[in-house]
Amino acid sequence: MKVLSIVGARPNFMKVAPLLRCLSRRGHESVLVHTGQHYDANMSDAFFRDLGLPTPDHHLGVGSGSHAQQTAKVMAAFEPVLLQERPDVVVVVGDVNSTLACTLVSSKLGVPVAHVEAGLRSRDRTMPEEINRLVTDCLADLLLTPSPDADDNLRAEGVPDARIFHVGNIMIDSLVDHLQAARGSDILQRLGLSAGTYGVVTLHRPSNVDEPATLTGILGALREIAKTLPLVFPCHPRTRERLQSGGGTEGLHLLDPLGYLDFMALVAGSRLVLTDSGGLQEETTWHRIPCLTIRENTERPITISQGSNVLAGTDPGTIVALALEALQKAPGSQPVPALWDGKTAARIVDVLEGWWRARSAD
Ligand code: UD1
Repeated sequence: MKVLSIVGARPNFMKVAPLLRCLSRRGHESVLVHTGQHYDANMSDAFFRDLGLPTPDHHLGVGSGSHAQQTAKVMAAFEPVLLQERPDVVVVVGDVNSTLACTLVSSKLGVPVAHVEAGLRSRDRTMPEEINRLVTDCLADLLLTPSPDADDNLRAEGVPDARIFHVGNIMIDSLVDHLQAARGSDILQRLGLSAGTYGVVTLHRPSNVDEPATLTGILGALREIAKTLPLVFPCHPRTRERLQSGGGTEGLHLLDPLGYLDFMALVAGSRLVLTDSGGLQEETTWHRIPCLTIRENTERPITISQGSNVLAGTDPGTIVALALEALQKAPGSQPVPALWDGKTAARIVDVLEGWWRARSAD
């Protein structure tokens, strides 16, 4: 079986790495395409190094742009690659613009698509990722889901059961695979921190950082929390740009984006995480570290019902109150959601092999 996998942006790398390892172990032909949506050394190269990803066979070098420009650039650059490689299946992960663009190209050329992390829904179409999820799932042939809520969402949209496969959470494969290596990171020493005595912040959603009034309110809340718990804030380039104009980060320990191992070590040692990231809601659930999601909704409700996540919204007073409340409680000990066990890549390859055998027999 020849499998072509797509990566484009930071949250894709840790989802594809375990899959590539499993495909190679089982002797399948594997092609890796990097669209170049993320291109900074600390948004891309550091992850290839930390995760042991192979050098991409094709780098499309699309870079930044408006949503239409970026999506169109990926489509135009990916089409000739797909025609040249002619894989049996294209694997896309997550919900970034590269996921959508490569799904559209593959579907139109009649190449089957498997979507890893299918079925998640925030029901908020102002969020660019929600549009990407809806269109990708509508077109993909194999929908590989992380949680039962995702299966339910797909069924409610009329997707037949035969296309839905509950395989679990592949981000957790990377987490489990690299936990030992992350323990070797010296990030806490470098920052002068000790485990359990600080919080971690990440923010990059356009709805939080592009709107000055919202960003100012969130920063005010973070400064208030930092009076009780020191906060370390590795800053996405989009956010860094906005902070330079907005100011107001006194008391927060701002850093450049960290690589996978350093960031994992930082999170693993933290007392509390405040974030608008999707993946971090899942990683904190696995670690059972309290997480406040600075958003009005989440496409990952299982991190609330069975995890350590709380939807905090963007009201500064509420964020501060919930953070102080979280610090009073002992960390939870609930079991992690089913199939968040580090074996999702193997289940995905099982599904692909079964599908491919059935197809070859036709
Ligand atoms: C993208 C994804 C988002 C994901 C996030 C993780 C979409 C719609 N959004 O958002 O789902 O959570 O990645 O980071 O695909 N930039 C750099 N260097 C880089 C990459 C970006 O400086 O390597 C800056 C550029 O100014 C760029 C801006 O960040 O315009 C936004 O990048 P973009 O890829 O458009 O979206 P993200 O906000 O990163």
